[in-house]
Amino acid sequence: MIYVMFVCLGNICRSPMAELIFANMAEEEGLAMNFCITSYGISNEEEGNPIYPPALKTLNDHGLDGVHRARQLSLTEIINNDYIIVMDSNNLMDILRITGGRFGEKVFKLCDFTSNPRDIADPWYTRDFERTYADIEDGCRGFLEYIKKQRMGNGGYQTNSKDKFFPL
Ligand code: 4NP
Repeated sequence: MIYVMFVCLGNICRSPMAELIFANMAEEEGLAMNFCITSYGISNEEEGNPIYPPALKTLNDHGLDGVHRARQLSLTEIINNDYIIVMDSNNLMDILRITGGRFGEKVFKLCDFTSNPRDIADPWYTRDFERTYADIEDGCRGFLEYIKKQRMGNGGYQTNSKDKFFPL
């Protein structure tokens, strides 16, 4: 099992979008059973809140849906996950502040997995939820390809796609 945690500031826009987009991508490739995917926020400002309605509408427009309650991350989640995927440089600095600089080797910015490394701008401020969706989709595609190369190259993983590998 590969434990993936997406992180943004509030956990009501970008990271829950990434959670659903990545889960759907893994599902489409028959790889979903290999992943435990969650999302958390740096801040506790939105604790308990659902996905922000314009973000949910954008997901729905792309055929995705999900139930979510915002949660604030702690050191426990950082320790317990294999990949901590943040949306921007502020998230990265906040994580390193929480860990005192430890666990940096498993913290990545989502768009560092693309040919155009960049921050995912916060749609809470930009209001451009389609742009956010496109950036997250680009990052998730790159991240999934990275995982497939890093972790799944020798058949040691499960898939329900008959033309790839059989379950171990
Ligand atoms: P997110 O967006 O980090 O993508 O979930 C935000 C949502 C709420 C706030 C900031 C960013 N806020 O300040 O409440």
